[in-house]
Formats: sequence, C-alpha cells, structure tokens
Amino acid sequence: MKKCSIGELRPGIKIAEAVFTSKGQMIMEAGTILTSELISRLTFYGISMVSIETPGGAAEVPQPEREKQPEAASNVPSRSRAVNPSYAQKVKSQPEFMAYQIEYQKEVNSIRIIFDTIINHPEVSINIRQILDDCSKLASLNNTTVDFFDRLHNMRLDEDSVYSHCLNVALIARQMGKWLRFTHEELDVLTLCGLFHDIGKIQIPEEILNKPGKYTEEEFALIRQHPLAGYNFLKNLPADERIKKAALLHHERSDGSGYPQKLKAGQIDDFAEIIAIADVYDAMTAARSYRSPLCPFQAIDMFERDGLQLYSPKYILTFLNRIANTYQNNRVLLNNGQSANVVMINSKSLTRPMIQLDNGSVVDMLNLPEWEIIKII
Ligand SMILES: [Fe+2]
Repeated sequence: MKKCSIGELRPGIKIAEAVFTSKGQMIMEAGTILTSELISRLTFYGISMVSIETPGGAAEVPQPEREKQPEAASNVPSRSRAVNPSYAQKVKSQPEFMAYQIEYQKEVNSIRIIFDTIINHPEVSINIRQILDDCSKLASLNNTTVDFFDRLHNMRLDEDSVYSHCLNVALIARQMGKWLRFTHEELDVLTLCGLFHDIGKIQIPEEILNKPGKYTEEEFALIRQHPLAGYNFLKNLPADERIKKAALLHHERSDGSGYPQKLKAGQIDDFAEIIAIADVYDAMTAARSYRSPLCPFQAIDMFERDGLQLYSPKYILTFLNRIANTYQNNRVLLNNGQSANVVMINSKSLTRPMIQLDNGSVVDMLNLPEWEIIKII
C-alpha cells in the first residue's frame, strides 16, 4: 500500500483504504478499482491523496492513460465495442456538428475580445447586444435538447478555456431559463449572466485554473478572489445589475458554505443561483486532459450526493429532472458492461430509470442498487 496523489491515479488502480470527504462522508470503499469516472469523482470532492494497493509489495507504476483502453471498455463485451464507436466520435461525425463548432469558436473568440476590452480598455464601449445575439443564434442551431447537451459535452474536448466555460454556462443557463418559462428579456439577461460570470478568472494563471487535484491554501485564496474581481470589472458597465451580481455571487451556496460572502438562501440573487448550477454542471460534464467527463446521470448523482441544500430547490429540482428526462429513449452503458435503452425516468430517483436491456428484458434500476449508468452511447 502507498499514498498516491490524485494526479498520479489511473484507471485500473485499486484503492486500499476507504476515501472520506472532509465532512466524513464515505465516497469510495476500500478495494474499489478506479475508472476515469471515479477519478473524476475524487477530483470533484477535492480529495488530494488516496491509499492505493501495490500487489506483491512492489510500488505500482501507473501507466499513462493514453496507453490504456477507453474508460469502462474492459467491462464492455468486444462485440459491443466493435459496433459502438465512442459517443463523442458519433456526435462529432454529424455534419451539423462542424457548422456548430465553427459558430461556437467564433463566439468564444468574441468573448475573448470583449473580456480583453473590459479589462484592459475600460474606456472603450462594448457591444453586448451582438455577443448576446450570436449566443442565441448558437443555441438555436440545436434541434433538440439532446443535440444541445451532446454538443456541449463534446465541445470542450477541443477548447478548454475560461471563455468556452463562460459560453457553456450561458447556454446551459439559457436552456434552464426556457425550462422555467422565463420571458425573452429574462432569458437574455440570464444568458449574459453566464457569458460574464467568470470574467474575474482571466487574471488567474492557467496552470492553477486547470490544476488536477486539490489547491494549496495560497492557490485557493487566489481562486476565491475571482467573483469580486469579476464584479469590479463589470460594475461600471451600462448593463443589468443581475449580470454584475451573478459574477459576484455565483459561488455562494444556500447553506452558507460558499464564497466570498458566505451568503445563505434568500440573500443570493435568483440569477446567480441559476448560474451556480449551470457552472457546476459544466465543470462536471466537461472533458479535461487529466480525467474523463461525468455522464449526465453521474452528474445528477453527484448533485444529489453533494447535497441539494447547496442550491435553490426551485431551480435545482427542475434542472436535474429535465436533464434526466432529456435522456429518455437514449442508449446508455452500465457499470456492469451491459448496454440498455432508457425506457422511463423514475421521478423519485432520477439516476435509476426503468431500462430495457439488449436481450429485451425491462428492468427497474430502483431494484438494482449496484447498477449505475456510466455513459451515454
Ligand atoms: Fe466562478
């Protein structure tokens, strides 16, 4: 057994001791074999070190991830692997994806320019209307909600920056606003809240922003400054106050555990509460160089385990419900290697739907607590 930092972990390594969060909640049992998804889970819980098993007493040398099979592939019957190219490849091979990608990239560049203007040339007026129109045009290129989330989840494989994160959060927030039946005016303000929410991160070095594992105290102190920095960049703009508040308050949490002001439910602006959910969802479902993305069902599971009390119930419940229902009738991969179709979402347990296996049998995942959906395929 030896201690290992999160950055050294690779799929296939066995955990030697149970892993607990700082609040004492067990998130991984001893003996668990790591997958990319489980490494992602450790990252999200801010775990920095874990004990791993070293068979025969020899120090285990993790292999680079690129030399390994795609995650979960070792569990998938070979026939299934042969006929199912990765979902990301499938999404990316659609002709519409290329057109979407071009528009997406244009919008990322516009955000980059507008952030630079706001920060370095505050005397120059900016055209918020144009960036908003481009963003709603991008959203309208998606015919279905599945299309939208598919593209969203795959876009950051190529483009991983604060700008693309802001664009994703804007698009997710806009979708949430539609689900919540917001007016056009509210949808536009909410979209702008997303576009500008992390402008304060621009001055944080990228190696800190993209660091796998836990931040040092100094690094975290720097990160925690970005909401106020963002607010200060935006405060003199002739823009809706809700946009400025979203930059300042999107890391506040309903139970008072957020930052910078440790506000509680009732003290946090509604739009900032929506941006907080979109922000966390994008972080969970984005692919990063050091870990694979969580699939939407795993993201829902993490929101539920993390504690729904962190977020406004009127927004988080609608959001998770809608995300789960987006995948009704979709194909999914289970943690036991089987693939299935989602037949019906269980409203009392969103991550445990009724599914139809490839042999035709329909099973209720509520009765199979050890089964998990790990991928959309
Ligand atoms: Fe942020």
